[in-house]
Amino acid sequence: MKSDFYKYQAQTTPHPLAMEISHARGSYIYDVKKNAYLDFVAGVSACPLGHSHPKIINTIKEQLDKYMHVMVYGEYIQKPAVELTKLLAKNLPKPLEKTYLTNSGTEAIEGALKLAKRATGRSEIIAANKAYHGNTMGSMSVMGFEERKQAFRPLLPDVKFIEFNIESDLNKITDKTACVILETIQGGAGFIEPQNNYLKKVRERCNEVGALLILDEIQPGIGRTGKLFGFENYNCIPDILVTGKALGGGMPIGAFTASTNLMDLLMDIPKLGHITTFGGHPVIAASALATLKEITESELIPETLKKEQLFRKLLVHPLIKEVRGKGLMLAIMTDSAEITNQLILKSQDKGLILFWLLFEEKAIRITPPLTISKEEIIKGCAIIIDVLNEIHQT
Ligand SMILES: Cc1ncc(COP(=O)(O)O)c(C=O)c1O
Repeated sequence: MKSDFYKYQAQTTPHPLAMEISHARGSYIYDVKKNAYLDFVAGVSACPLGHSHPKIINTIKEQLDKYMHVMVYGEYIQKPAVELTKLLAKNLPKPLEKTYLTNSGTEAIEGALKLAKRATGRSEIIAANKAYHGNTMGSMSVMGFEERKQAFRPLLPDVKFIEFNIESDLNKITDKTACVILETIQGGAGFIEPQNNYLKKVRERCNEVGALLILDEIQPGIGRTGKLFGFENYNCIPDILVTGKALGGGMPIGAFTASTNLMDLLMDIPKLGHITTFGGHPVIAASALATLKEITESELIPETLKKEQLFRKLLVHPLIKEVRGKGLMLAIMTDSAEITNQLILKSQDKGLILFWLLFEEKAIRITPPLTISKEEIIKGCAIIIDVLNEIHQT
């Protein structure tokens, strides 16, 4: 299997972790050699209820027995998609009401950018340095990391960058700006939270000049930061909210939500303003609906803040310079990429899954399932401290 993996499946790095998976349950992933790994990554924030959650599995099976794909997006009334978008609206502040379901986060970002251009008739897009919004051409155009996009130019024209959290940059947002797109908490950059009411100030500047504000909550959204949506922590409601990852409960999804007035523009001039074959797929939407219900009807969201406190209490070591982030979107900061690499690889040898962040090589992500238990947190943190002691001694 391993040689076929390298031979036939396209790779994106020369050194994938290449663990061969047998099955996964709860907070554990098992390899084919019967080793159990405690999962502190959750498929990069995409498995909020852990692995093989019985409610999700049963919902998916029930939907499979009824129907799978029957028609392209938006033509037929399919209960899972309708109920999912209705439940999102119920949990969102006004005017966020109507949701377009896509196949992935990056596609939802594309849809959001298109909607902002269509709504304002403007072309300029403002994004943040070190932002990550996905890997298709539009999303990559608003990625604030030149090294990873240089080879794919030309990208979208009229994209400008500001520094996240720097207020003096906000005057770059003008009446030429169609939209400002920001991650609510910058992920790839190292889990950077907005400071000093930054998002509220961006919101006010956008209002002044008639630009739309897009918040990308593909990673922080769906309960990870102590609120269902990250923006609820920061005093700011976007015009377009983009979600994905955790929303699918382990199935591929993306979504962008806006007011009815805005979203209805996609029906006109041109009609079919954004189209997709599989977006809103009934099996995926059923999984997302079950996930959203479980997260909103349980104590999982407030518990993320208690679990954060436990992580912060346990993750104290001379090689840990800082623990960044909020709720269960945490990053251990070390002094060097070398320490980061050793910690991730040695922890895996001891049965704990950790992972890198995209752009910040001194950071290690801790984004476990929201369902992780106190005992599992204690067990995983003990492995981290143990490995750091080993690194410290060498
Ligand atoms: C903040 C953010 N935006 C967009 C994306 C892209 O989502 P997807 O990989 O589903 O296309 C990601 C994925 O890591 C993300 O973290």
